[in-house]
Amino acid sequence: MSENTLILGLQWGDEGKGKIVDALSNDIHAVCRFQGGHNAGHTIKVNGEQTVLHLIPSGILHPNINCVIGNGVVLSLEALSKEINKLKDTGISFNNRFHISSGCCLILPTHIRIDQVRDKKESIGTTGRGIGPAYEDKIARRAIRFGDFENEDLLNDKLSKLVNYHNKVLDRMYDEEPIPVDSVIDEILSFKHLYDDYCNDTQDLLFNWVNEKKSILFEGAQGTLLDIDQGTYPFVTSSSTTAGGVSTGLGIGPKYIDKVIGITKAYTTRVGEGPFMTELFDEDGKMLAKKGHEFGATTGRPRRCGWLDLVALKKAVFTNSVTDLCLTKLDVLDGFKNISVCVDYKNNEPVYKIFDGWDDKTEGVTEYDDLTDNAKSYINFIENFVGCNITIVSTGPSRDQTITRES
Ligand code: GDP
Ligand code: IMO
Ligand code: MG
Repeated sequence: MSENTLILGLQWGDEGKGKIVDALSNDIHAVCRFQGGHNAGHTIKVNGEQTVLHLIPSGILHPNINCVIGNGVVLSLEALSKEINKLKDTGISFNNRFHISSGCCLILPTHIRIDQVRDKKESIGTTGRGIGPAYEDKIARRAIRFGDFENEDLLNDKLSKLVNYHNKVLDRMYDEEPIPVDSVIDEILSFKHLYDDYCNDTQDLLFNWVNEKKSILFEGAQGTLLDIDQGTYPFVTSSSTTAGGVSTGLGIGPKYIDKVIGITKAYTTRVGEGPFMTELFDEDGKMLAKKGHEFGATTGRPRRCGWLDLVALKKAVFTNSVTDLCLTKLDVLDGFKNISVCVDYKNNEPVYKIFDGWDDKTEGVTEYDDLTDNAKSYINFIENFVGCNITIVSTGPSRDQTITRES
């Protein structure tokens, strides 16, 4: 039976989406990204080999799976080209299975420059990939879309108007050097082969696959608390990272999402600025960062670490209609004497329930019954608190270090 599944993050990103999407891609027809851009960094580990994907869906390592970049994604052609070439070098084929929506809005070099100079003043701690400025132009209806390559004269015209506008912003608002219009046009046109090879009517593809009862997987980027509407505004990214983004970012109605797997780490991390109720500044925080290798997969920045926040998690389950929870990085808690979870906020401070840690390792465990009792108690408490079953537990970065349970 076909089943369409959405996999997304319930925290501030880096929950392990890449690993889980890859691990669940076996019997899937297509994996589709619906928002974000190359601000994402999704790590997959198979047979000791690590791959970090930024724009390309995490199904790409499975040779026969289609990969789709939907209209809701903002597209840097330079980043895309680099990522494709790197993967091709490892023997991965893109022929007839990689499709990019003609509706994707392009990230230009001027977007990147604006993002970087602005972030020095506004201190959101963005990834500096031009994401915010590119989405601004999309909403303002002046963006360049991937399908605009169809008419090169018109594309040139649109590009020169937009880059001139960006240069005025750079010059007048930030006292920064403009980027020559011709150089931007030359750079964009040098990627025309990507349009020739991969541009498609991706909504039409999805329409056909749905009618043929093929199973589709929707891959979120970032996380619920970084959502432009539902997140910790203004310390958010500029896209709809929550379940609603699937419909707008791919042109598929919500009734075609059969299952929503929400991913949470067994603790919490955040990269960049903004509020973080359960952030730790003590030895426990340092130990989480060290054991969890908590450095950004895109920018290499250290991730801030803290305990799991069940108040926020419960809300995220509601926001996304989560049907199944996936708990990742449980193994990182191995060896902690005590583990806390936030169950309430009082006077702007987290209220914690404290659990005994465990001596037996959860690392690499693949059967639920083989987990140590204290880890099972931790899992049960989370399930009861947020009212949703944890049907997947991740016990290491590798594809096979995964426990699956019946819904
Ligand atoms: P994503 O952005 O949600 O795909 O997550 P990232 O790839 O940015 O960050 C997750 C990091 O944790 C990566 O380095 C993964 O290899 C790693 N990881 C994923 N699941 C587990 C797990 O269960 N245990 C451990 N120890 N590492 C994991
Ligand atoms: P994945 O998909 C973690 C954060 C940035 C910054 C804010 C805005 O790997 O989980 P942006 O460049 O998007 O305008 O930055 O969002 N951010 C992420 N944090 N994981 C990500 O992606 C992120 N993508 C953006 O650190 O705080
Ligand atoms: Mg990441």
